Amino acid sequence: MSNVKPGNYTDSGSERSTTISHAENNTQQLKGEVLITSMQDSLKLGLVPINIYNDEEIYRLELERIFLRNWIFLAHESEIPNVGDYVQRSIGQDSFIVVRDSQGKIRVHLDVCRHRGARLCVGDRGNTEVFRCPYHGWTYDTDGNLTGVPNRTQAYQGLKLDEWGLVSAPRVESYRGLVFTCLDPEIMSLEDYLGDFRWYLDIHLGLSPEGMEVIGDPHRWNVNADWKSGSDNFAGDSYHTQSLHRSILEIGLASKSAAGSGGSPNDIHVTECSGHSTSIRRNDPGSVFYWGYPEELHMTFSKSDLSFEQRELAERSVVHTGTIFPNLSLIHIGGTDDPAKPIAAWFSLRQWQPRGPGKMEAWSWTLVPKEASKEYKQRAHRVAVANFSPSGNFEQDDVVVWAGVARAGRGAYASHIGLHLNFQMGMEGMSQARQMTDWVGPGVVYDSNLEEGVQRTFFNSWLKSMVR
Ligand code: FES
Ligand SMILES: [Fe+2]
Repeated sequence: MSNVKPGNYTDSGSERSTTISHAENNTQQLKGEVLITSMQDSLKLGLVPINIYNDEEIYRLELERIFLRNWIFLAHESEIPNVGDYVQRSIGQDSFIVVRDSQGKIRVHLDVCRHRGARLCVGDRGNTEVFRCPYHGWTYDTDGNLTGVPNRTQAYQGLKLDEWGLVSAPRVESYRGLVFTCLDPEIMSLEDYLGDFRWYLDIHLGLSPEGMEVIGDPHRWNVNADWKSGSDNFAGDSYHTQSLHRSILEIGLASKSAAGSGGSPNDIHVTECSGHSTSIRRNDPGSVFYWGYPEELHMTFSKSDLSFEQRELAERSVVHTGTIFPNLSLIHIGGTDDPAKPIAAWFSLRQWQPRGPGKMEAWSWTLVPKEASKEYKQRAHRVAVANFSPSGNFEQDDVVVWAGVARAGRGAYASHIGLHLNFQMGMEGMSQARQMTDWVGPGVVYDSNLEEGVQRTFFNSWLKSMVR
């Protein structure tokens, strides 16, 4: 049983105070397993303990139970188009080489030399036929086989090369260009893991007949905030934009339809879709906007293999955000870096990499339709960086408050009193959001973005991984 007493909130009653009752737990610090157990009760009430945003034990358990056992995004295929192309990526503290082998197959190897443990890749990306360890010179081919050992005849005669190849990830699968790995060989297929959420993902990745491609290198930067803050925000925090990003609206770098207050009848939340969720802002019915892409691209979009309903949703779309559990988020949006210039649209993948309790490394990829002009791609990338990057207008607002959450999660007093955060918007009696029965796509869908079921889904998926 939980030792959390989440106050006198009742789903159906009139008392709606979320004050935590301290009477029975004020001498206990909620840590690790106890926090996880307590969340099985508190999350049903829309309450999340603040400690999980900055706790050593939770962080260690997350690496084991979430990041070793779920499909984790590593790269986009367009980053490694040719044989021998590689990029260096990571999951938690483990580094991996994502490489296209001699047969063109994408492989994922642990970036650890089997001799003494040195890293093989000193660069973030490149093209190679072999990986040669800088320490003593052991050499591996792109398939991961150990092919060369200096002074082998004199020093390593009995070494069986086939037993000392690189450790490769047991599962590597792609979906529409997104390369994921899972370190648990028993996991379901990537298609099943994405499940019905593919219907929404396809709109972003399948709208362009030629597909999407990554422009430039992914931006990456360290943030003194927990990775879950990024995942829960992008799952569909439509509530924060009118407040946190108000200055961007005031100086004309974003439109109210894209980042203003929530609650428009055109806004919806896909609160639960195979463990993932997404938030969608649309223009009025009949409008053709496609997030703000230029009209010449609209013609190509009409040739996509999407269903009528998917294409109709894309046509009206202004902004989509979403989170694929655990730490891959997306945003499809238009914006500008200069109020005097027209908006440009782009699709961004964001990843929130755990780097310690209350610390993460944020990664951001900019993608655009392959058939866009070179000039458009450059402009879209510039606008994307101006808005979502370490120096981006939106990003700087976001990370400042996320750092505050991590700081609060460390507080002795907050822990002492078992402080819980409120994720109750949209629960019964809380908001006017209503579940839609006539929605054309999959998932549990609400007719408003003023609700937090999208974020509760993220924490439900978190809990499911953490308790198993
Ligand atoms: S550590 Fe790699 S060759 Fe020695
Ligand atoms: Fe934001």
